[in-house]
Amino acid sequence: MNYGYFDEENKEYVITRPDTPAPWANYLGSPEYGAIISNNAGGYSFVKSGANGRIIRYRFNAIASDQPGRYIYLRDRDSKEYWSATWQPVGKNLDKYKSECHHGTAYTRFESTYDNIKMDTLYYVPLNKTYEVWKFKVTNEDKKVRNISAFGYVEFTTDSNYEQDSVNLQYTQFITRTEYIENKIVQHINENVDKNDKGSNGLERFFGLVGQEVTAYNGDRDSFVGSYRSYSNPIDIENGHCSNSLNYNENPCGALQTDITLQPGETKEMVFLLGAYDNEKANNIMKAYKDLSVTEKEIKELKNFWHGKLNNLQINTPDKNFNNMVNTWNSYQCFITFIWSRAASFIYCGLRNGYGYRDTVQDIQGIIHLAPEMALEKIRFMLSAQVDNGGGLPLVKFTHNAGHENTPDDAQYVSETGHPSYRADDALWLFPTVEKYINESGNIDFINEQIVFANTEEKVSVYEHLKRAIKFSMERLGAHNLPAGLHADWNDCLRLGKLGESTFVAFQLYYALRILKKYSVRLKDEEYIGYIDEKLKELKESINTNCWEEDQFVRGIRDNGEIVGSKTQPEAATWLNPQSWAVISGFADERQTKLCLDTVYKILNTAHGTMICYPPYKDHTFDGALMTLFNPYTKENGGIFSQTQGWIILAEALAGNGDRAFKYFQECNPAEMNDKAEIRKMEPYVHGQFVESKGSPFEGRAHVHWLTGTASTVMVSCVDGILGIKPSVDGIEIEPCIPKSWDGFTMQKNFRGKQLNITVKNNSHIEKGVKKVLLNGQDLVDKHIGFEQLKEENEIILYM
Ligand code: GLC
Repeated sequence: MNYGYFDEENKEYVITRPDTPAPWANYLGSPEYGAIISNNAGGYSFVKSGANGRIIRYRFNAIASDQPGRYIYLRDRDSKEYWSATWQPVGKNLDKYKSECHHGTAYTRFESTYDNIKMDTLYYVPLNKTYEVWKFKVTNEDKKVRNISAFGYVEFTTDSNYEQDSVNLQYTQFITRTEYIENKIVQHINENVDKNDKGSNGLERFFGLVGQEVTAYNGDRDSFVGSYRSYSNPIDIENGHCSNSLNYNENPCGALQTDITLQPGETKEMVFLLGAYDNEKANNIMKAYKDLSVTEKEIKELKNFWHGKLNNLQINTPDKNFNNMVNTWNSYQCFITFIWSRAASFIYCGLRNGYGYRDTVQDIQGIIHLAPEMALEKIRFMLSAQVDNGGGLPLVKFTHNAGHENTPDDAQYVSETGHPSYRADDALWLFPTVEKYINESGNIDFINEQIVFANTEEKVSVYEHLKRAIKFSMERLGAHNLPAGLHADWNDCLRLGKLGESTFVAFQLYYALRILKKYSVRLKDEEYIGYIDEKLKELKESINTNCWEEDQFVRGIRDNGEIVGSKTQPEAATWLNPQSWAVISGFADERQTKLCLDTVYKILNTAHGTMICYPPYKDHTFDGALMTLFNPYTKENGGIFSQTQGWIILAEALAGNGDRAFKYFQECNPAEMNDKAEIRKMEPYVHGQFVESKGSPFEGRAHVHWLTGTASTVMVSCVDGILGIKPSVDGIEIEPCIPKSWDGFTMQKNFRGKQLNITVKNNSHIEKGVKKVLLNGQDLVDKHIGFEQLKEENEIILYM
């Protein structure tokens, strides 16, 4: 079943039926003011932190689902009938109520019609602003005059802290009151505390109306809704007038009513504004909207900003669903995970109040090809969250104070963050991320940039930071000379034991050494080159001796010596990540590559992607296999863990298997499920954390939308792997790995300010291999395009 479609031209996903199998969301705003909105206007907003800056409520995982939200109710003063500008919360019969939701880049727009009244509602946070705008347009499509009341509505939190607001009711219900001042509801929290003492944001909020006069208001949720009622039938709406009540204790809200009369064909407009500002600042904000056309300018600015970023790479291949993801939705999701980390969604309530080290270092990779300057800033930040022993801080607080942080070796860090010790993989993610950045930007000097550590103000070069990361792993090897599992590796659920050993990390380390060697060579660090060569050799030996089993790599060795992921085992006998990473890291030789990739295909692949391991743990598990707690075929226990799909696509592409790489891409591509949305349930335009795999009664159902490392790994597999875009310090090479059936494709890429118009011709119908490159009509001897050969605008033709 299908609930909408991709509008490529406008970079929108258009939901044509509002009764989607789950709330389908979009992100508005920036980390300074963030807003999540569903296709029925459900969702919440916060200032700076989903956990500590929450200004509107949202009841997670509740029924009625997806409530509350940013509601506009309408009521006909003659017929006394009422409905809402989005299908929910009133939920009129869909035979008569028509609604389309356009999720765009940082805005969401609804077009609804009911009983000859047309409603157009646009929600956004203006660029670089910290409040939100609801622009509402209502048109009378009837032949007669219509007397309509419109009511904007929002449910405030009582306390900016999400948990306090939800559970500490004996306190938080008694710190708030609302006031009505000049077309707006103002909410005060802890009003009697000295203003200078309040410290945090969000203790004064406002909800205002511009463009029409307020005829009545309500600042008290419970009198607005009425006893034993719900958002589908609030008493104020049923009565047709807000009761002019105000909140004093209990539950605050903002409800503003305006009564309008519409001649046939007439349109009236208004803007609701919401933010965490006091009355004076709110007045200034509201003044800026006196001329409602400001909103058009702002939307244009937003689109220019986002489309500008996305347009740095646009592709046109024979596969529309691939194009949609690379051109818009996967890229946009990469920016959202990059910006929001795992802070806030309809699943994450905001309590993870910081950046997971590995998560963010990986997230960065998803946007490097589109916004290297944004990536640079975050890479610097993450390097400044590396401890001087070379390890990464498992959780980097949003308040990170580089040079002055405690580490997992300090009790205070552990109690504050809940992270008891280092992970084996965290800092190793820096290598591909730093390399990708340098190659995209050409900024090789970055390697010499001086950056502090998390726990000391000592500044060392980025090169030295990377060396320390190697040292961290080398100082923590297990009995077989492989990197120790420590608290966990990438797989949070796999506890091999402190001295257990991880094949995945061994490959990461191998890859890291290979990357670092390139910089050691550049810097002529002879001694270190010698060290790297020796370590690569040692590591190769240990991996081949201890981890290779005929046609697959094992997952690791527990601290008691037992193998995890051995062919001989009844459960979890084959694992995905060691196979994909054997190839990505450049470790596997040709024979191993073929064998282990075939094993993945044979044993792990399903219609919806590749399982993380198989068979799932059930009866033959061990204490450290925490995933056993999950139902089989779910999450890390044999589910299709979506992030890992990017790695297997990339591995296949590196190995030259374009057909299989693309097949894997299609299996996990959300857009492929657009017409089977009832099975996938989640948004068909974003990746989730995982998909239930073949033994689940709900095979194909996806979970944990939006904030997932999947966005970046799949993006990287598309850009580096399938499209084969390989920038380097002094130029760029393009080596696609595509399905044989493709005749070719085109791409437009902005490369360090130069425009590349690339045409790939695959008349020979092969998967990989470029035989000729024309740059602006000139036949290049070498496939590598030197940066100095580029003009402002370039025509590049590649013959495969
Ligand atoms: C979650 C975590 C991530 C971890 C992954 C696998 O996505 O955010 O850090 O690597 O699960 O366990």
